[in-house]
Amino acid sequence: MMERTLVIVKPDGVQRALVGEIIKRFEARGLRIAGMKLMRIPRETAERHYAEHKGKSFYESTVAYITSAPVVVMCLEGPDAVAAVRATMGATNPLSAPPGSIRGDLGLSIARNLVHGADKPETAVRELALYFTADELISYERSGDKWLTE
Ligand code: CDP
Ligand code: MG
Repeated sequence: MMERTLVIVKPDGVQRALVGEIIKRFEARGLRIAGMKLMRIPRETAERHYAEHKGKSFYESTVAYITSAPVVVMCLEGPDAVAAVRATMGATNPLSAPPGSIRGDLGLSIARNLVHGADKPETAVRELALYFTADELISYERSGDKWLTE
């Protein structure tokens, strides 16, 4: 099932010069980049993004973290892209994320976990609309795409 999902390389990923390392893992897995930009997330967008966590102990620090420095936001596309991205990222707490996953290989702390990926297809639709206009997302075929599925 073809899906689009939202991925963010968080400020620590950009500051630690891990943007290429993180994108490489999604790209090598077969996901296709349908949109991408470097941006500083406005506070209001971050509040809408993390609205489900409002009132929780980590809400304020998480909004402060994601808005603290530039991020790279991406729309990734592919079969079951939401689940593929979540598995490639690993668990929210890097200490519980398996080696081989982005957080398990590159992170140590839940509060600096390098990457965001939408958790469900409905969330992906909502989050993509927070960061991209329709004309910023491009549909195209790569010559290798036919080798990714039967
Ligand atoms: O990002 P993910 O969907 O895996 O986890 P979440 O439960 O939706 O939490 C969103 C983000 O809040 C996490 O990625 C962390 O950056 C932050 N967080 C935190 O700092 N401390 C926690 N105990 C839980 C989440
Ligand atoms: Mg989440």
